Amino acid sequence: MKTLIKKQTTISETENLILLCDTKCKLSDFNLSKQELAYIKNQQKDKKEIVAINQYKRHIFVVLPKTIEDDNSHAENCRMIGDSLAEKLKNMRSVLIIDIKQNQNEALQIAEGIALSNYSFIKYKTNAVPNKLEVINLCKNSNQKKITELQNIVDAVYFTRDLINEPFSHLTAKDLAIASVKSGKKYGYKTTVLNKKKIESLKMGGLLAVNKGSIDDPTFTVMHWKPKNPKNKQPIVLIGKGIVFDTGGLSLKPTANSMDIMKVDMGGAGTIIGAMQAIAANKLPVHVIALAPATDNRPSGNAYAPGDVITMYDGTTVEVLNTDAEGRLILADALSYAKKYKPELVIDLATLTGAAAAAIGQYGIVSMQKGAEIQHEKLKAAGMHTHERLAELPFWSDYDELIKSDIADIKNLGGPNAGAITAGKFLSYFVDYPWIHLDIAGPAYTQKRYGYRGKGATGMGVRLLYQFIKNRA
Ligand code: BES
Ligand code: MN
Ligand code: ZN
Repeated sequence: MKTLIKKQTTISETENLILLCDTKCKLSDFNLSKQELAYIKNQQKDKKEIVAINQYKRHIFVVLPKTIEDDNSHAENCRMIGDSLAEKLKNMRSVLIIDIKQNQNEALQIAEGIALSNYSFIKYKTNAVPNKLEVINLCKNSNQKKITELQNIVDAVYFTRDLINEPFSHLTAKDLAIASVKSGKKYGYKTTVLNKKKIESLKMGGLLAVNKGSIDDPTFTVMHWKPKNPKNKQPIVLIGKGIVFDTGGLSLKPTANSMDIMKVDMGGAGTIIGAMQAIAANKLPVHVIALAPATDNRPSGNAYAPGDVITMYDGTTVEVLNTDAEGRLILADALSYAKKYKPELVIDLATLTGAAAAAIGQYGIVSMQKGAEIQHEKLKAAGMHTHERLAELPFWSDYDELIKSDIADIKNLGGPNAGAITAGKFLSYFVDYPWIHLDIAGPAYTQKRYGYRGKGATGMGVRLLYQFIKNRA
């Protein structure tokens, strides 16, 4: 399913309309009766941002966004207006947004909200009733470049949501790699998939340890977007956690609730793949590489066990005290692997800890950084712009002692507190470049609808990364 965003070519009398206006704008061009006009005025007096007029041949939604000084909050309000409109539009095939007010930004933001809200994941339902809305038209004086850009972003968010919503039964590590190969072919970025043999010859001990209990092979996918004249000399590397299902391994999760949504655990990988697609589709002039180590984590006769000592890709030894702290093991190998690119910056995304979700819920992304203070500020700004906001945790050196091991270089478990930070500290051990860590365990997947992000996979992080890379250009 796709929601098309197009520039309007013709207008018919039966076209449903969204009239974007301000207090002064004239509605007289739209065949509204006196009563209708009076009704609209009254509703707007009552601060109704959306006034719905149900005519015989068409529906009209008069939209008057409230005044908000802060641009970012205003943009988010417009997207949320789009979310409300999507609910009203779901039985209509198309709608035309006319910005009488001539504010193309608002029109695009409303279109973005409608499109992101219009997503559904119903492929496994036998008798599903899909939303009817297929096309959002923007009026003919809109900027085609911006419409195409938005379409590519929305498609990428849908793609990421699809990947995350896909259950483990239908998305193994190999399937995840194939999905990125397909996207790369379509959108023009290069994808290389390292198979188990290659991963073994590289001695990626973290990824291989987590994969030991699995009947499926791991994959390590390398995505490459190198435009002709990139603005950066050294690449930006994105890394995503690709645990296609997390049972906890021998340190098994209790099934009652904590395991139920663990198909989400490739959310980091799904997000960077979607971001790569958006970046390539819009041909951003920035050299970007993305790495997605992937496997499931489950118990079996051959599974890695608590107390094991493993040797990582970079030679570091790790005492595994909990096989459910698996994400940091596969990410660590990817972080070490990234050194070979001499990156300007590395950003990793992972559904890494329940502690991050417990700290801030589904409303934002927990972040930490090392040697990337300025870039982190820029990422924060992109987060405010896209409303995919960052909440930075302390990353003091005092925490380092919590991952010291008695018998190996470090252990994969911290103390009972500060779980999101000790996970970050574990990762930082493998990093020698400017680095930002994003823990998306909270926002990646919602149990309750969260505006246009919907219920289930949200795709949060795709728009953030896209905006950040775009600003780098
Ligand atoms: N995948 C989980 C984290 C998670 C929790 C993601 C909730 C999404 C929603 C991760 O692998 C995990 O199990 N983390 C453990 C770490 C602990 C054993 C140190 C956790 O957070 O409990
Ligand atoms: Mn786990
Ligand atoms: Zn996990």
